[in-house]
Amino acid sequence: MGISVCEQAGVLPQHVAIIMDGNGRWAKSQGLPRVEGHRKGAGRVRDIIEWASDAGVKQVSLYAFSTENWKRPKLEITALMTLMATLLPLEIPRMCERGARLLTLGDVSKLPWIARKSLQKACKATENNTKIDVILCLNYGGQQEIIEGIKRFCASFQDADAKNEALEQLNAENFRAFLGRDDVLPVDLLIRTGGEQRISNFHLWDAAYAELFFTDRLWPEYSQADFQAALDDYAGRERRFGKTSEQLKGETHDG
Ligand code: FPP
Repeated sequence: MGISVCEQAGVLPQHVAIIMDGNGRWAKSQGLPRVEGHRKGAGRVRDIIEWASDAGVKQVSLYAFSTENWKRPKLEITALMTLMATLLPLEIPRMCERGARLLTLGDVSKLPWIARKSLQKACKATENNTKIDVILCLNYGGQQEIIEGIKRFCASFQDADAKNEALEQLNAENFRAFLGRDDVLPVDLLIRTGGEQRISNFHLWDAAYAELFFTDRLWPEYSQADFQAALDDYAGRERRFGKTSEQLKGETHDG
């Protein structure tokens, strides 16, 4: 595939977040157990790292397991965790070749030991890579992340006066420091596969001004052309961040 329209236009998203939905439905459509959908979906995780890196995207975050996914059948949870634990170490050489650094978001301390161990190994082995960050969101929930941020904020004061003063000065910029997302850029483009049109507790804080892109394609069948279509669509969006179109074009200067 040649150079993308977005790259030429200089309007490439820096952080692309993906809700990889549709694994179960794909498996069902093939007469396979759900876990086969996740296995096939894991192959697309490998691909998306390559496609995003080739396109020049700096960060790609993947919603691999949400705080709500614990409600799934125990067998499916175990299969997903085992899949990750098995596949991640195998991906390390390819990630290093690609200059991909693995990061995680979410409370990974609650994951089974084999998954934690495998994640630790892959994060350590890729920590010096600089071309693209792959952020695996595991046991992640946007609401929970904000609540944890509030707890950290409240715990960071010696006395009530300091707390009151900080509360007076609290704003979206300085609160972000309490979210534990220092390595993560604000989300520019949020893609959801599988036909549903919701963000399901993903990146609530940092998706405040994300462009949303929904596709019916089921994640196991997601292709490079699908990804490029999302990038091209993004390139055509006008990101106003609350301003007017005219302000952005420099036609008016009245704030
Ligand atoms: C949603 O599809 C998908 C998930 C909850 C899991 C996503 C996990 C992977 C793609 C594997 C990750 C592997 C590695 C190595 C990181 P769904 O099961 O809800 O699909 P459905 O809506 O069709 O039932």
